[in-house]
Amino acid sequence: MKPVPLSLLPDTAEVRGDGSLAIGGCDLLEVAAQFGTPAFVYDEAHLRARCREAVAAFGPGRAVYATKAFLCGAMARLAYDEGMLLDVASGGELYVALHAGVPADALTLHGNNKSIAELRMAIEAGVRHIVVDSFDELDRLDTLHAEGLPVPKVIARITPGVHAHTHEFIATGQDDSKFGFNLGNGDAQLAVDRMRRSPSMQMEGVHCHIGSNVFEASSFGKAAEVMAKFAAPLDLPELVLGGGLGVAYVAGEEAPTITQWGNVLLDACQALGVRSAVSVEPGRSIVAQAAVTLYTVGTIKHIPGVRTYVSVDGGMSDNPRPVLYGSGYEAFLPRAVGAERPLSARLVGKHCESGDVLIFEAGLPADVAVGDVLATPVTGAYGHSMASNYNKLTRPPVVFVNDGVARAVVRRETYEDLVRCETV
Ligand code: LLP
Repeated sequence: MKPVPLSLLPDTAEVRGDGSLAIGGCDLLEVAAQFGTPAFVYDEAHLRARCREAVAAFGPGRAVYATKAFLCGAMARLAYDEGMLLDVASGGELYVALHAGVPADALTLHGNNKSIAELRMAIEAGVRHIVVDSFDELDRLDTLHAEGLPVPKVIARITPGVHAHTHEFIATGQDDSKFGFNLGNGDAQLAVDRMRRSPSMQMEGVHCHIGSNVFEASSFGKAAEVMAKFAAPLDLPELVLGGGLGVAYVAGEEAPTITQWGNVLLDACQALGVRSAVSVEPGRSIVAQAAVTLYTVGTIKHIPGVRTYVSVDGGMSDNPRPVLYGSGYEAFLPRAVGAERPLSARLVGKHCESGDVLIFEAGLPADVAVGDVLATPVTGAYGHSMASNYNKLTRPPVVFVNDGVARAVVRRETYEDLVRCETV
């Protein structure tokens, strides 16, 4: 296998004279030595550049960062400082964003099953929008209005009946979905009629999200068309077209840029005569390629005639995506980023099950050895945010690198953290 494509690495990745890799001006081996492994290492300049690209493509106030992809205080502030609004999908995400100092009127609350407590928290905080997902949620908003809470601005989540070409678990626009009001069976119209009449809420617009890691611009164009037609007679100020732009994870994959995605969506809306403000909620495309995960190789097991297993000190607890979705990743050694990768091996973690696989067929340098620092690129989205404590592994730190400085913005968990919530 050829060396890892540099196009998968963060913007500031730089191969030094000795063949080793630096990101944000920081040598990755030094970062590993300073913070230990596993560690998520994010290129701050890359994160900022993607936020700015989204704001430039869609306009101020129209690029909403989907925090589910990667959220901590530092990321929430960075996205907000770069001009993005933030989408939160639970009371917990709302809490973290507010705790980071992001003003409530920069936040949109999502969720297919928001509790009355989450809705109350959002309304009391004064969020910008609540994206309403069900008739039961409309009932809850009526209850809160009857309690005397302020009238929230709401957007209706519509399921447009568009099937995105992506993994079944992350496709959300088709009729058979737990999300939103179905366009096809008339629920969307019923919901919108009720919302516009309701004194409990102020109707601001409609929303759709067809799925995640979508590569085909045509799927987005189709959703924009369906939504534009539905929204036209409503004449509401907001049309939100969700997130979903895919990213390249492995050699040979190519995804549209945020700018190209913006052109497809905005051209389609313009051609359809949309007068509403068109906004989007990118998550993955902002953060995925900004990070690499650093691990240390702990064991190498050759089974003649079968395969080689290379085990690292993390696994499905810091990256469950290969197990959940069969997602592909690349691996390389930061000490020799340009090395050919002739050794075919299964890259696995340290969890107590055979499903704990990071890369089913990894290509690695022939001289990979126990003790080597190994990196997997494109792990900035849905890695840290979906990390678990399975087998009571402590979750890795999040390290931001920029201009030669590496700083942990989230520290590694400790064993004490593992028992912090125990009461007896
Ligand atoms: N807006 C809504 C309403 C969403 O549900 C999502 C993602 C986004 C925006 C952001 O989508 P993105 O730009 O990141 O594709 N855990 C899965 C991804 C689940 C996505 C859920 N919703 C994965 O690791 O691939």
